[in-house]
Amino acid sequence: MKVLVVGNGGREYSILKKLSEDGVELFAAKGNGGTSVFAKNIDIEPEDVESLVNFAKENRIDLTIVGPENPLCLGIADRFEEEGLKIFGVKKNGAKFEASKDFTKEFLVRHDIPTAKYATFFEYEKAVEYLSEINYPIVIKADGLCLGKGVTIAQNMEEAKAALRDVFVEEKMNSDRVVIEEFLDGNEISAICMVSHNKIYPFEYARDYKKIGDGNKGPNTGGVGNIIPVEDMSDDLKVQIQKILDEISLGLEKDNFNYTGILFVGFMVVDKPYVLEFNVRFGDPETEVIMEKLDSSLIQLAEKAIEGTLTQEDFKYNDDYYTGVMMVSGGYPGSYAKGYEISGIEDVINSTVVHAGTSFENGKFYTSGGRVLMVIGRGKNRAEATKMAYEDVEKIKFKDAYYRRDVGI
Ligand code: AMP
Ligand code: GLY
Repeated sequence: MKVLVVGNGGREYSILKKLSEDGVELFAAKGNGGTSVFAKNIDIEPEDVESLVNFAKENRIDLTIVGPENPLCLGIADRFEEEGLKIFGVKKNGAKFEASKDFTKEFLVRHDIPTAKYATFFEYEKAVEYLSEINYPIVIKADGLCLGKGVTIAQNMEEAKAALRDVFVEEKMNSDRVVIEEFLDGNEISAICMVSHNKIYPFEYARDYKKIGDGNKGPNTGGVGNIIPVEDMSDDLKVQIQKILDEISLGLEKDNFNYTGILFVGFMVVDKPYVLEFNVRFGDPETEVIMEKLDSSLIQLAEKAIEGTLTQEDFKYNDDYYTGVMMVSGGYPGSYAKGYEISGIEDVINSTVVHAGTSFENGKFYTSGGRVLMVIGRGKNRAEATKMAYEDVEKIKFKDAYYRRDVGI
């Protein structure tokens, strides 16, 4: 069997690592410095949908799994299906949840699903007027694909105005509207779900460390740490979250989405869980820790989701705890340098080292992105997993490397 994975980050590395357990022939488009251990890296950009279609046809690829949102928003799943190629990824109609926060909010409100109160604005002046009527902090979200940079938590009117200026005046976000949303103060839970014809099956819940600084300080990132399982979730909370996932499933059904692929539901738990966001792709770096914990075959799960035969019992896990610490390039999530040599990866024996932003040249690894490597420690409890992760993080060196010191602590 031949499987193609579209994408080139840590998420795709972990998907490939998991798929490799099934002994199939793997291809990555375009992969990274680490993925060639498992797969043949193909020099086609994830956004180059037509070249991917041609590659899959010419090489008789049996299954394609899509990592990032861009190809999904461009309609890669629609195109593959038109050509009779099997693909696990949502079609364009569902990918709209990722492409528009306003679209997601309308869906949530239409189906009575708990979410932060909000208003949508198309003009700078109207949005600024609204700023004088509200309490702070407030959340300002540029509509559209912003690579995790579209959300500002404004502590006061000045910060809020600056965020609005970025969207409407400077036009930095490639977005024609903003969602202004009530700030919810609580604990986040990432529910990455497989969806099969509108039916939702969550993977084990994970917790993302979003902020760059220890103690959740500083700007938001794509995620710089992750833990699984989330041991502070009560059974009652799990029941409440499952109920919301059921309501979302019903909403997809009522609206005739015929949604198959991944739905990532981001929750904020305040007095009860609220839906913060939908993504239509595997979380990154949630996927990195989920794939370590998952025992089931990802190929079988994806194929069953496509066929419509998936059940929650198909998801089997080991009993271990995982703590994943992301090593990033100094400066991330702002600007940073690339191309620094990485040493010490081979000294890590116990943890899993996930390549996220690396390149491999002349026998050496170099940094090639903001999020460089995730070191995932494993243990019989949280403390053990976290200790392993940090012992191994310290073995890896590259210039200006930075990581949070409080993941799992
Ligand atoms: P989003 O792009 O909508 O997923 O938001 C990115 C991150 O911003 C979330 O994971 C939260 O950490 C934060 N965030 C978004 N909306 C809110 C909100 N209403 N209240 C508090 N934090 C939020
Ligand atoms: N880690 C959050 C995300 O994938 O958006």
